[in-house]
Amino acid sequence: MKSKMNPAGSMTVTIDGVSHKFPLYEGAEGPKVADIRAFYQKTGAFTFDPGFTSTASCESQITFIDGDEGVLLYRGYPIDELAEDSNFLEVAYLLLHGELPSREQNVAFDAAITRHTMVHEQLKNFYNGFRRDAHPMAIMVGVVGALSAFYHDSTDINDPKQRKIASHRMIAKMPTIAAMAYKYSTGQPFVFPRNDKSYTENFMRMCFAVPAEEYEVNPVLCAALDKIFILHMDHEQNASTSTVRLAGSSGANPFACIAAGIASLWGPAHGGANEAALTMLEEIGSVDRIPEYVAKAKDRNDPFRLMGFGHRVYKNYDPRAKVMRNACYEVLDALNIRDEPLLQVALELERIALEDEYFVQKKLYPNIDFYSGITLRALGFPTDMFTVLFALARTVGWIAQWSEMIVDPSQKIGRPRQVYTGSNSRNYVPLSTR
Ligand code: SDX
Repeated sequence: MKSKMNPAGSMTVTIDGVSHKFPLYEGAEGPKVADIRAFYQKTGAFTFDPGFTSTASCESQITFIDGDEGVLLYRGYPIDELAEDSNFLEVAYLLLHGELPSREQNVAFDAAITRHTMVHEQLKNFYNGFRRDAHPMAIMVGVVGALSAFYHDSTDINDPKQRKIASHRMIAKMPTIAAMAYKYSTGQPFVFPRNDKSYTENFMRMCFAVPAEEYEVNPVLCAALDKIFILHMDHEQNASTSTVRLAGSSGANPFACIAAGIASLWGPAHGGANEAALTMLEEIGSVDRIPEYVAKAKDRNDPFRLMGFGHRVYKNYDPRAKVMRNACYEVLDALNIRDEPLLQVALELERIALEDEYFVQKKLYPNIDFYSGITLRALGFPTDMFTVLFALARTVGWIAQWSEMIVDPSQKIGRPRQVYTGSNSRNYVPLSTR
């Protein structure tokens, strides 16, 4: 990947009376960056940025977010246009290759992914090692990491052909592995993928079909889930994507890197928030209990936070949350359950929070996870599968970002430093004298 940063002047830093200049650059969109790669070498000091709130870890051409304006672009295309007018595999091609596919490219990519949806028969043995009530994200971390043991012919990250096969395998097999995790939890037999089904239709069939009868996917529900997958595909350098990049920077194989991303996504502050948001709505239970929970969320001494609200980058409405809310209405209307009590709680909670001074002042808006839980539960998924679906979709973004990192000439092994405030050097004291 050739850098497309443009020089934008310089920054001068003075430490102990000595001034140091550092170049500034700007990208196609977004804030300028100060190139501080030589900061320690020049100044003898480190920069300090826990949580990387002011740090650009890389140059990327995949996804752009403007948190203040509530803008999300995949390769320049607005997320709402892609969610409304495109489909999962076409957007996956866009994220991987940078351009929307031609008709021929679309057909070829579709066929390539379809031909990799089955998993090695022996992979099934891993599921039997888990308790039936194991959290499916625990199964995903284990089974996806184990793929490294099966696909030795696509773990050489320096071979573009192997990287391409590993990327296709990962994207194609995630729905199969995820559906198997769900089936295992229900005690029902695994359902094989079928090559005559679309990506999302295949996934729904592998989750909900049983051998005893034919299964017909509801096209409205399938279209809604495909849209939900598009919304979750990528989101620039979030915690799990940064985890995948950091793991990949050591040369680890792509399957192990994706397993690391799944582990990071699981946290309730990140991808686990959709599961936590629905649990929170169920705990609130009714509209009249909302004020009690809003008060808890505002109490600095109470660790409770409104799950599905707030975001490190968005200080405006998460554009995905708007599309997700519409998808929620589509699904509930298709199932004729628009009077779903939790939706009423969610709508009223959103209304109250958006008018409350605390949330307004801290710019806390609903994020993608606020409406996804209600929607996914209406689609028939149990709560503990919500983050698995997030991981299924985000695998495309992880793979696209990992692929971009591998070919970025400026990338090195990620190795942050620290500010040490522990004990100064001291000598060992024998136990007999302590
Ligand atoms: C995702 O990074 C990404 O892009 C992630 C993601 C993606 O697609 O990859 O978008 C997916 O992870 C969405 C976020 C899902 N998480 C949740 O919904 C969990 C609830 N949200 C919070 O945990 C929080 O908002 C975070 C973790 C999302 C963001 O936290 P930050 O940016 O570190 O902000 P912060 O925790 O410093 O909060 C700033 C202030 C704090 O108050 P003060 O200490 O300044 O007084 O806002 C408060 C927080 O207490 N606050 C909340 C709140 N979120 C922040 N108060 C109540 N409820 C909340 N939800």
